Amino acid sequence: MIAGNWKMHLGPAEARTFLEGLSLGDVPAQQELLIFPPSVTLASLVADPSRPARVQVGIQNIHWEDQGAFTGEVSAGMAAEVGATFALIGHSERRHVFGETDEEVSLKVTAAYRHGLVPVVCVGETLEERRAGRVDEVILRQLDAALSAFPAQGRVLLAYEPVWAIGTGETATPQDASAAHATLRRRLTDALGVAKAREVAILYGGSVKPANAAELLDATDVDGVLVGGASLDPESFARIASAGS
Ligand code: 13P
Repeated sequence: MIAGNWKMHLGPAEARTFLEGLSLGDVPAQQELLIFPPSVTLASLVADPSRPARVQVGIQNIHWEDQGAFTGEVSAGMAAEVGATFALIGHSERRHVFGETDEEVSLKVTAAYRHGLVPVVCVGETLEERRAGRVDEVILRQLDAALSAFPAQGRVLLAYEPVWAIGTGETATPQDASAAHATLRRRLTDALGVAKAREVAILYGGSVKPANAAELLDATDVDGVLVGGASLDPESFARIASAGS
C-alpha cells in the first residue's frame, strides 16, 4: 500500500492538476494506492474522470459522532457519502497539534467501521520518548486504545510514524522501522490471532521520498508507506509507488 497524506495542501483545482500529471505506467498492478486529500477536495477527487480507478481516496480525520453541533467537523458517514473508503485516524498532527487523545482515537475507529470506512490508525513516538527508551511503551499504548474498537471482522491498517521523522527530512532507518513494526505485529498477533494479525498492513511514514522508498519498502514487516510532502507531486508519488516492485 502506497498512501499519500496531502495534509492541508491541494484544493480541488490543484488536485485536478495533480491527477493530470499522474502517470502510473511503471507502478506494479498489485500495488494498492490511496490518497488522503483535504475534506473540501474529497468529493471532486473521487468524481474526477482522470482519477485512475486504482487510486482510492480517504479522509484525513473524522468526528466520532454521526452529526451534531460540532462546528468545523466532518462525520464518517459524510465522508463515505462522497466516496471516501478509508479514514486516517490519530495522525500525530491530530494528536500533538490538536490534542487528540487515545480515547478519541478509539471512538473514531468505531465511527469509521459504523460507516464502512477502513481505518488507518497512526501511532508513533516523539523524539523525547525515543531518547527515553519508551518507543514500545508509547506505540503499544496507542495501539491498545485503537484495538479496543476493532470488530471481529473488518479491515484495518496501521501506520507507524515516528513524530521526529515527520516533515523533518529525518527518516527512521529500515531497522528502526522493522523493529517498531515487529512490536506492533506481536501485539496484533496476541490480540487477534496469527491469521488476522497477518492481514493487518503496517505502513511506515516519516520523510519517505523517492530516494529512500525502496529500502523502507523492502524492510521486514513494512507493508507499505504513508507519504506526506513527497505525495504532493504526481511524479514523486508515482516514483515511490514503483519503488515497491
Ligand atoms: P512527511 O512525509 O512529509 O514527513 O509526512 C509524513 C506524514 O505525516 C504522513 O502522514
